[in-house]
Amino acid sequence: MRILAVTNQKGGVGKTTTTINLGAALAAVGERVLILDLDPQGNASTGLGVPPHERKETTYDILVNDAPIEEAVINTLVPGLDIAPSDADLAAAELDLSQTARRNFRLRDALERFHDGRVHAGLAPYDYVLMDCPPSLNVLTINALTAADGVLVPLQCEFFALEGLVQLQRTIDRVKENLNPRLEIQGVVLTMYDSRNNLARQVAEDVRAHFGNTVYQTAIPRNVRVSEAPSFGRPALIYDYRCAGSQAYMRFASELISRERQIREAA
Ligand SMILES: Nc1ncnc2c1ncn2[C@@H]1O[C@H](COP(=O)(O)OP(=O)(O)O)[C@@H](O)[C@H]1O
Ligand SMILES: [Mg+2]
Repeated sequence: MRILAVTNQKGGVGKTTTTINLGAALAAVGERVLILDLDPQGNASTGLGVPPHERKETTYDILVNDAPIEEAVINTLVPGLDIAPSDADLAAAELDLSQTARRNFRLRDALERFHDGRVHAGLAPYDYVLMDCPPSLNVLTINALTAADGVLVPLQCEFFALEGLVQLQRTIDRVKENLNPRLEIQGVVLTMYDSRNNLARQVAEDVRAHFGNTVYQTAIPRNVRVSEAPSFGRPALIYDYRCAGSQAYMRFASELISRERQIREAA
């Protein structure tokens, strides 16, 4: 089970869109994927067609009330893609966890219990857990980084993108030092990319120059079908498989799978 935190402290850069569509693309090629919605806004839950009244146990219960992950898991439209949803309660987690022992390890502990429980019950483990993080560096993001094997960073090519990425790298280094020695940047994926835009091209070049092979070859283009899909409660891959955005997410998923294979072989 590979645990990836989809993180960027900036909002609106494509974290949720990437979590949903990478998850769907991985599931489409036979991987078993669990998404943990760690944003109180619940956009990943809504975008995958889980309406608020169907969210019984949530990631809040997992983090704060010791609810087992399996009680929160809901199947989505996509075979092989499941989600533990969130709701607005999650915004209170910071306060509710403030007096708790191991407050930064809540998610990691829960994932370990979940994984062991599945193995023990003879159930196939998930291949990937993707954690959709909120746009801030709060206890939720720290829990995700502490639980993660790697960080996947969606990056929009705008003026301060590189500065933001350098800052995120520092945060990751701090978490690595204090909470999770195995944490690495798994990769950076350029989102909402418009190759006709000079600034975007320049920023992409700078990011590639600075972060090298960490940056995925596949850039996700800005694509209106991708932005429409969540209002239908579907990943873009189901809403319109042929659109340029869906095709890019498929290419990205296959690139990610080969990178994961390399990481496994190097280990
Ligand atoms: N490739 C894309 N093409 C067009 N719109 C996109 C694309 N990726 C994301 N968006 C839109 O940009 C907005 C922010 O994306 P989102 O994934 O919610 O970002 P975050 O989770 O980082 O806040 C959303 O309205 C989303 O639909
Ligand atoms: Mg989001």
